Amino acid sequence: MKCVSLKGLKKFEVSKINEPKSVNGSVVIDVKKAGICGSDIHYWVAGAPKGLVMGHEFCGTVLNPGSRDDLKIGDRVTALPISPCGHCKACLSGNPQYCPDTWTYAVGLSLTNPGAYAEKTSLRPDLVIKVPSNITDSEVAMVEPTAVGLHAVNLADIKIGSSVLVIGAGIIGDICAMFAKMNGASYVAVSETNEARGEKAVTLKCADEFFNAKDPDFMEKARKNCPYGYDYVFDCSGNSAAVSTALAMARPNGTVVMVGVSMDSITIPSVLIVMHELKVLGAIGYTVEEFKECVDLMATRKIDMLRFVDDIVGLDGVQNAYERLTSGTDDAIKILIDPQK
Ligand SMILES: NC(=O)c1ccc[n+]([C@@H]2O[C@H](COP(=O)([O-])OP(=O)(O)OC[C@H]3O[C@@H](n4cnc5c(N)ncnc54)[C@H](O)[C@@H]3O)[C@@H](O)[C@H]2O)c1
Ligand SMILES: [Zn+2]
Ligand SMILES: [Zn+2]
Repeated sequence: MKCVSLKGLKKFEVSKINEPKSVNGSVVIDVKKAGICGSDIHYWVAGAPKGLVMGHEFCGTVLNPGSRDDLKIGDRVTALPISPCGHCKACLSGNPQYCPDTWTYAVGLSLTNPGAYAEKTSLRPDLVIKVPSNITDSEVAMVEPTAVGLHAVNLADIKIGSSVLVIGAGIIGDICAMFAKMNGASYVAVSETNEARGEKAVTLKCADEFFNAKDPDFMEKARKNCPYGYDYVFDCSGNSAAVSTALAMARPNGTVVMVGVSMDSITIPSVLIVMHELKVLGAIGYTVEEFKECVDLMATRKIDMLRFVDDIVGLDGVQNAYERLTSGTDDAIKILIDPQK
């Protein structure tokens, strides 16, 4: 079957892999939509591991229900793409994000489990979730990143009336901003190096204001409404400049949530954490409950995730979609893949 695999530095190729079979009760699906994630972009930029078939955000229809007696052919599903052991303390408490095995065989993030940038994929049966008929395939493909934002905002425990700065208005930043507002923040600002994306966060009603991170007067402007700093700052970029800005923009004893991922060590002014007694939190993944809650929030129309979808491309369009998403000037935030296109 057709798939897209990582060929080298910033290079994909459309190639062929064997069709997945149901192994150990796994559920085989026909992929309807897959999302391109900022984490996938990190792999593409690094060009490794070669041969990786990405795609950990998806919607599909069941081709083989495997060991899931409650599923039938044609049911629409998504899944937590992770690989928790299921029996450690973290797993038993509903927090698979703390399980040491969570990323080892993750779908679309490991060579062993090819993801949804392919016509079909295979999913661990216990992690598959049937989705209601009133949410579209594209919305279902947005559940995973939505759960990332929900988890980060839940960890921050935002108080009503507080101020929030989100650094990086990609999809994860926009979702954090959206949930921050829903949780009672009265002022939500975003900073971006990509002006078009920053402005879009305001147009899409995620943020009240956008500040250009490249503006030499950025710090002064972004502090206009919060002279003592922001109550909460979310870093959704993961680089040294962004995390440093996050620490500098938080108010004394404020909270900084690090959502952006950098696999390399980065330099940050850690003195600010000490001098301002900042609360610095990491946020990774989601709980099982949060993942399911995102499906419910979509089904009950409490959140509209389709507004973030800019384009839907076939497997042949993936390379170009990545170039668009990393151009630094394009306003696209989320591009979905339809492998059947
Ligand atoms: N913690 C988790 O569980 C989790 C899950 C998914 C993604 N992520 C990570 O979150 C980050 C965001 O994901 P995404 O899909 O939105 O990625 P993205 O690449 O689409 O968005 C990142 C944005 O940050 C902006 N940016 C970069 N440097 C900046 C700076 N100094 N100031 C302001 N803006 C800056 C970029 O222009 C870009 O728009 C990525 O690092 C991704 O790996 C983390
Ligand atoms: Zn993702
Ligand atoms: Zn475990």
